[in-house]
Amino acid sequence: MRILGIETSCDETAAAIVDDGRWIRSNVVASQIPIHERFGGVVPEIASRQHVLAIGGVVSRALGEANAEVRSIDAVAVTHGPGLAGPLLVGINLAKGFALGRLIPLIAVNHVEAHVLSVWLSTPRESRPLPSLPMAALVVSGGHTELILVREPGAYTVLGKTLDDAAGEAFDKVGRLLGLPYPGGPSVEMAANEAIDLNGFTLPRAWLPDSYDFSFSGLKTAVLRTVRDATNDSDNARLHPSTVSLIAHAFQESVADVLTVKLVRAVQAYGAKSAAIVGGVANNEYIRKTLAEHLDVPLMVPAHDLSSDNAAMVAGAAFWSQDARDYDLEVAPSLSLEDSSASQ
Ligand code: KG4
Ligand code: ZN
Repeated sequence: MRILGIETSCDETAAAIVDDGRWIRSNVVASQIPIHERFGGVVPEIASRQHVLAIGGVVSRALGEANAEVRSIDAVAVTHGPGLAGPLLVGINLAKGFALGRLIPLIAVNHVEAHVLSVWLSTPRESRPLPSLPMAALVVSGGHTELILVREPGAYTVLGKTLDDAAGEAFDKVGRLLGLPYPGGPSVEMAANEAIDLNGFTLPRAWLPDSYDFSFSGLKTAVLRTVRDATNDSDNARLHPSTVSLIAHAFQESVADVLTVKLVRAVQAYGAKSAAIVGGVANNEYIRKTLAEHLDVPLMVPAHDLSSDNAAMVAGAAFWSQDARDYDLEVAPSLSLEDSSASQ
């Protein structure tokens, strides 16, 4: 089954063609990062307008790169939530038009579920291994931090979530505090890689004992306090680059420790046969490495370029959910994974 996937829930305009929930034929992403950079975060109104401008070209490219005729598409899949209402609407409207024009099914996809199922994707050339189930998955992005037990595609239990900031959001805020370019995730990782004396600063870890929930706002406040102390101690009002690196490393280490302890505990408690990290923060090499070192089951990470938002994961997830909707599908900005799970 060949599915055209469309993703516009935040600041990436994306379209992709995937066969049978696994084989990526094309995967096109137009990022708006340079546009939102000067505001230090995603501006929903601007994102919506950019999606309108980009979506037609992105879908044409996805068809072209897959060498796919329009009539070879069996269904259209679109993210209907969670996400920003205006941006979601742009993708949904395009998907409706395409599906209605050809009278093919319109499949609604949950963005968080799509991230989880991204570890099923492969290219014909790579032929990546499939995850063993059950799998304990960390969804860590700019908008989400959830620890999920995946019994099979469509059957999930959300074990824990963030009580405040998402992990990627914490990276972005800390990046701003350290005066690093937007988005903070890649900048903080790059700065942390420059750290020499790894014992320079110690930051707290919010363990939240006996719970799989997360909290990152205290850590962010601790970084703020550390930055203030470091700038007061110097004659210069700006942080020295070596201090920035040390704080970035201490922050990244704190996030990695908490994610690792909770994921390892979930794997053991639920007898998971594999673990996964998906979402934008899964790009972080230090976090991946720390997780892999502490897990005694395989760590699945999405295929190249599939950690951050993309539409291949949307087309892939649609194959499993087959959640076909009427052509009056609406946006669901606060959709949760529980809404999309067959059993709890
Ligand atoms: O999945 P994604 O592209 O969009 C959302 O659904 O939010 O995730 C974006 C988030 C941003 O907060 C970004 O700073 C973070 O992922 N991120 C990273 C890295 N690359 C992206 N965080 C830590 N380390 C990275 N290398
Ligand atoms: Zn995402």
